[in-house]
This record gives sequence, structure tokens and C-alpha cells, in this order.
Amino acid sequence: MRKTIIAGNWKMNKTFLEADIFLFELSENLEKIELGTVEVVICPPSLYLELASDIATDSKFHIGAQNVNDNADGAFTGEISAAMLHSMDLKYCIIGHSERRKYYSESDEMINAKLKKLHENEIIPILCIGETLEQREQGITKDIILAQLDGGLNGVEIEDNVVIAYEPIWAIGTGKTATPQQAQEIHSLIRNWLEENYSKDISEETSILYGGSMKPENVKELLSQSDIDGGLIGGASLDVSKFSKMIETAVEL
Ligand code: PGA
Repeated sequence: MRKTIIAGNWKMNKTFLEADIFLFELSENLEKIELGTVEVVICPPSLYLELASDIATDSKFHIGAQNVNDNADGAFTGEISAAMLHSMDLKYCIIGHSERRKYYSESDEMINAKLKKLHENEIIPILCIGETLEQREQGITKDIILAQLDGGLNGVEIEDNVVIAYEPIWAIGTGKTATPQQAQEIHSLIRNWLEENYSKDISEETSILYGGSMKPENVKELLSQSDIDGGLIGGASLDVSKFSKMIETAVEL
């Protein structure tokens, strides 16, 4: 049975002290929650990965990075390799986030190379895909999603080691959320693609998260959809009580 994953993507937010306080409070909150098949992940800025890893050792959450370089090692000033993430015992790493595609010109080809580096280092990629508002209005959402799946997963073997996050770009950080039906339609498209390109087992075991203004007020409706297996949460993951509430809702479903 596939996992429900509630993942917080902090992006470029929080000072060290704020991160420390949040993670301790989250640990305390999780003590009171029986997580069952729900997995909690925090993706802090890379500077705090060590702090987060240390706190996570005695807690019930996992850590993910927000980015990785597509090269193995070498002269890439300011970058972080998959081997480095592996040496920090990280379980996950976000790749292909729309902000990186947009501001750092990341292509599907580069994202595919990053994904392969993560797999070589036993880290589970959280592969983000999603369409812009313009693409949705042009009626090409499905083509965009399928192209991003083809590109991002080109030549990749999947066996319980990929998480996909559908994040409509027009819903990220805007307060606009896809309706549960809009999200479900794309999640089911992704699941069918997995079945066609891999197998029924792979499609049933792969967690597909929704991202885009997920918050305590809409998490229940979204997670109630049959193909939505959790969330990649930005803004609402910065507040420990909101984030904990969303975990509680996921556990109750
Ligand atoms: P948001 O961000 O929840 O603030 O919309 C989600 C994401 O970008 O992962």
C-alpha cells in the first residue's frame, strides 16, 4: 500500500533559530500523533540539513533537500552533490520545482540527470511537474504533464524510489488551489502514465503528492481524492501549528 506523505518545502525561509524552534516543536507534536502510513518530511534550506538531520534522528519525521547538482563532484562553486546528501542520511530531495525551472532555467534533461544522481546515491527524488496558467488556458495541461514525465523519468527504473508532486504553477504561493477535481484529473493521468510506462504495481505503489496552496482548510478535500497521496506544502509548512494540523488530518483520513 502506498504511503501518504506530508512534506514541507520551506524554500528560502527561516533563520537558524527559527528552524531550530520549529523542528523541536514539530518533534513534540509528532510524539502525540500515531502516524500509521503517513510519513512526514521537512525540506529545509541546505544550510540547516545537519540540524534537521540531528533532530530527526530521535523524531518521527524525515528530511529532504530542496535541490541537488546534476554532476557527481568537482568545480561547481556553491553547489551540493547527491553523494553529499547521502552522507547526511537524507531520504528525499526535491527536483524540478517550478521555481528552479523558471529562475534557474532547469530543463527536463537536467532534472533527469539530477534524478539519476539521486538514485545512484539511494535518495528518493520528489519530482515536481506542473503547468502554467497560460498552458492551462490553452488546453495543453495534459501534454505538458506527459512531456515532463517523459523527460524527467527518461531511462529511470522505478521501484518504490520515486515520488511525484503535481504542482500547478498558477496555484503555487498564490492562495489559489486547484479544485480537488482538477487535481484528481491530473493525478489519475500521472498514475495511468506510470502503469503504461512501468507496471500496474509501480503505478499503485508510487505516491503522487499535490502542491499549490495546500493548507489546513483544503487538505481534507484534496487528500480525499483517490489518487492524491499527500502534499508538498510551501507557505503553510512554515507555521508549525498549521503544518501539524495538516498531518493530523492526513492521519484521520
Ligand atoms: P505553496 O508552495 O504551498 O506555498 O503554494 C508549494 C510548493 O511550491 O511546493
